[in-house]
Amino acid sequence: MGEGWGEGENSVTQPFRADILTLASIRAKALSYSCKEVVMRHSIFYCLLGLSLLPMITFAHEMTGWIAPEEAKKMKNPIKPTKASIQKGKEIYEKKCALCHGVKGDGKGLSSEGLNPKPANFKEHHGKMTDGEHFWKITKGKGPMPSYEKDLTVEERWHVINYINTFTKHP
Ligand code: HEC
Repeated sequence: MGEGWGEGENSVTQPFRADILTLASIRAKALSYSCKEVVMRHSIFYCLLGLSLLPMITFAHEMTGWIAPEEAKKMKNPIKPTKASIQKGKEIYEKKCALCHGVKGDGKGLSSEGLNPKPANFKEHHGKMTDGEHFWKITKGKGPMPSYEKDLTVEERWHVINYINTFTKHP
């Protein structure tokens, strides 16, 4: 009986082992599939991560300063800084800009106190910026700095820039 059982055991376990082997190979395949899937998911994840980092990097770049586009930098001031133009610019500046940027252009206007960021100090910043950059920034505005696209004509904006240029000498 014992022997017969033994034989029986053999004959029963043989196909079982085979089953286990095929099962194992199926599992291995499944594992390699899921591995591929994990790798794919990861690359999608990193792809998404990269995409979401891009605006963050751009934003961080923005935080370091207000940067005008290259085309704006190259824009030439079509109005010569004549006495008449500077005078016109002064009148506009004192009416519209001095409140924040200060009568002397030092950024310490009456309502500059609570502003963040602080209004630009034209005596410091100015030398590094072209007229075109000024024009772009005055047109666009940013944060507390209003946009003057509608409030000032193109000519008026250049007159103001000619006046701002008198606060510091620059190349
Ligand atoms: C309500 C306050 C306010 C008024 C009014 C205002 N500005 Fe500004 N301006 C700012 C602030 C604040 C900044 C800084 C913005 C920033 O860096 O994000 C700024 C920035 C600028 C810049 C950029 C300077 C730089 O170094 O990047 C220019 C140019 C400028 N203003 C010109 C003008 C002119 C011209 C007028 C008037 C027609 C004017 N602003 C009126 C608040 C004001």
